[in-house]
Amino acid sequence: MIKIEHLRKEYPNATPLKDVCVEINKDDVITIIGPSGTGKSTLIRCLNQLDPPTSGKVWVDGECITDKNCDISKIRRKMGMVFQSFNLFNHMTIIENIMAAPVDLLKKSSQQAYDDGMELLRTVGLAEKAFNYPDELSGGQKQRVAIARTLAMEPEIVLFDEPTSALDPEMVGEVEAVIRDLAKKGLTMMIVTHDMRFAREVSNRVFYMDEGGVYEDGTPQQIFDDPQKENTKRFIKRIKIFEKLITSRDFDFIKFNNDLDEFARKNLVPKKSLYRLRTVFEELCTQIIIPELEKDFVLSFQAEYSQKEETVTAAIRYSGKEFNPMDSGNFLSVSLAENASESICHSYSGEDEFTNTVTVKVK
Ligand SMILES: Nc1ncnc2c1ncn2[C@@H]1O[C@H](COP(=O)(O)OP(=O)(O)OP(=O)(O)O)[C@@H](O)[C@H]1O
Ligand SMILES: [Mg+2]
Repeated sequence: MIKIEHLRKEYPNATPLKDVCVEINKDDVITIIGPSGTGKSTLIRCLNQLDPPTSGKVWVDGECITDKNCDISKIRRKMGMVFQSFNLFNHMTIIENIMAAPVDLLKKSSQQAYDDGMELLRTVGLAEKAFNYPDELSGGQKQRVAIARTLAMEPEIVLFDEPTSALDPEMVGEVEAVIRDLAKKGLTMMIVTHDMRFAREVSNRVFYMDEGGVYEDGTPQQIFDDPQKENTKRFIKRIKIFEKLITSRDFDFIKFNNDLDEFARKNLVPKKSLYRLRTVFEELCTQIIIPELEKDFVLSFQAEYSQKEETVTAAIRYSGKEFNPMDSGNFLSVSLAENASESICHSYSGEDEFTNTVTVKVK
């Protein structure tokens, strides 16, 4: 359906796309992942010609849209785009926002555009807000309207650039649910996301972008569980590891817990394992180790989830003299930590900055 041939994009100071060659099939739901600055947004923008590529060709349904003679408005109609920031017209009601383009560009009658627009609002759960203005909606609702507005143009493919990253966390779910629905209905989509859990759930193909192109292309299982190439392996490993450095007794434990929850959510760590991991941190680190350490200490807490074994391995490393938390006199905390874990073992090297290491396995 879409064929990208040797796509290249140069900016004065960067060449984010060197040579992109891929084919996208009808009904594909592709998530695009990769480190920051690897050209994910650039690829999306070049595809629908918001930003013209330096060279290369893009074919949609046999038509070369990078051709000079190709009508831009026709391309925009074929390829819908949903941005991070919703870009609604604030002086128009929700239904007017949705009707505008179908009336102007598809030459639909107002009645037809209205009927179709209401139907779309129903599919994103917002028919009730049709006569409200964008300012009266939450971020999640605005983004759902933006999706409905894009769909009103009856595009063949919809491109999303981090559609949930400007939203408050509690609103991410409602927008993801709408995108999941569209995937079920067989809409062809390309979605740039930093959320690996969502990528795994929603897509049938993942593009890992790096080194100026689609560096690895595979199913979510292939890319997340068994990446083949070096950079992909490194990236996947890094996002699967949670790491925090704690350097003060007064550290922000609320943020710590929040970040840990977020890590668990994104990596599909079961709730039960998350609770146990929290208990381990609370009892071993907060109750036993941190109070024992010298004033200017460094403690690193790392956790990694293995989906294969369904275990979280936590490594607690800290400075100072040899100290095994399991030998402390705090019997209550020791037994709570033991109950929450499969194994706890302590080692002391005396060489590193982190002289002590406690490794904990949690099911
Ligand atoms: N309009 C522009 N002018 C000049 N350079 C640009 C422009 N847009 C992007 N770049 C550069 O191109 C590179 C790729 O940027 P891009 O925004 O596509 O990355 P990204 O993969 O989307 O990153 P992120 O995950 O942070 O969103 C970067 O080095 C960026 O600085
Ligand atoms: Mg981007």
